[in-house]
Amino acid sequence: MKYDFDQVIDRTDTHSVKWDKNLLEEFFGTSDALPLWVADMDFLCPQPVVEAVTRKATEGIYGYSWHKTPEYFDAIIRWMSRRHGWNIDKESIVFSPGIVPAIDIMIRTFSNIGEKVIIQSPVYYPFFSAVQNNGRQLLTNQLKYENKRYTIDFEDFEEKAKDPLTKIFILCSPHNPVGRVWSEDELKKMGDICLENDVLVISDEIWHDLILTGNKHIIFSNISEEFADKSITCTAPSKTFNMAGLQTSNIIISNEKTREEFNFDISRRNNLGIPNAFGIVALMAAYNEGEEWLSQVLEYIEGNFGFLQNFLEDKLPDVDMVGPEGTYLAWLDFSFLGMNDEDRKEFLLKKAKVALDSGGIFGPGGEGFERINVACPKTILEECMNWIYNAIKEEKK
Ligand SMILES: Cc1ncc(COP(=O)(O)O)c(C=O)c1O
Repeated sequence: MKYDFDQVIDRTDTHSVKWDKNLLEEFFGTSDALPLWVADMDFLCPQPVVEAVTRKATEGIYGYSWHKTPEYFDAIIRWMSRRHGWNIDKESIVFSPGIVPAIDIMIRTFSNIGEKVIIQSPVYYPFFSAVQNNGRQLLTNQLKYENKRYTIDFEDFEEKAKDPLTKIFILCSPHNPVGRVWSEDELKKMGDICLENDVLVISDEIWHDLILTGNKHIIFSNISEEFADKSITCTAPSKTFNMAGLQTSNIIISNEKTREEFNFDISRRNNLGIPNAFGIVALMAAYNEGEEWLSQVLEYIEGNFGFLQNFLEDKLPDVDMVGPEGTYLAWLDFSFLGMNDEDRKEFLLKKAKVALDSGGIFGPGGEGFERINVACPKTILEECMNWIYNAIKEEKK
């Protein structure tokens, strides 16, 4: 089946976080802005997912649901093997309604108050709150930015890992917002440093299926048994198939003791072990029958990145786009405007009428940048960029 990603679907009154007028008002102080901020897609889900959820809806009973069937586990196991060459067994899979709540819990399970957690900024902002709101200390291993590309400051990483109070490293792979798909060499170096210093790696791989042509995602814990033993892999069909609202994720932990500790905390202490009825059927349909949709959506997203690149070269050559390798998030350097993040946010909202994620919220190194979600019909991206262009032209007059 050929999917039509050009179709513009009105999401304004659908309780969408990205599009809801009240929420835009609350977050941005205006509802009159084109939203390309929250990381979900403005595309219909794969048809098999829509059908599975519709079938479920017509059952008419939405009671407590149970996912631990052979079919549920098989769908995940086969996907990981087929797409990632990663062989996992069903015992290693722990359900979580989301990766963010899972990471919060892991911080509490695997470190004590006052201990330290490494993150690599600029990075997905809930990592900061997961550490700080749980009373742990944040260690920021800021990424290095050179020639429109981000790399890791290994010297600083090692120094931070060596701190006896450091217990956890949260790896974002692929990386939101800078779009890096880490190489095997980079992953090995980070992993070796963590092993040497007894630091647990929480590898958030929620973006692992959204990889652009020419790049290869490597599952951190698939690199070696030692890495698998000292890491936790966070996976979900939510970004891949645009079903984040169904709150269905899977945390893969091969080390039995680590798994039991996490399992106890997530399902007993936090009571988050019972899944969403729709999420179970959607996951199976997505992993079993969603591959064709995924390949078409990736092609479309690459087209949008290509459009953006050309647009910038033609009309806004002072705005640098960081070469995207994965995700559907463009990371653009607007520092030539000479505005601080707050002023630029206001300018983009009031003058360009676009709502984006302003770089500073991703922590040190994010200042001057804007994150734009390109998983939308091309006409919306074009509109957004034309409005930004016109506002800048006006400003520079
Ligand atoms: C790196 C990363 N982790 C986790 C999430 C969200 O996870 P969940 O919705 O499963 O809590 C996102 C969403 O943008 C993300 O970018």
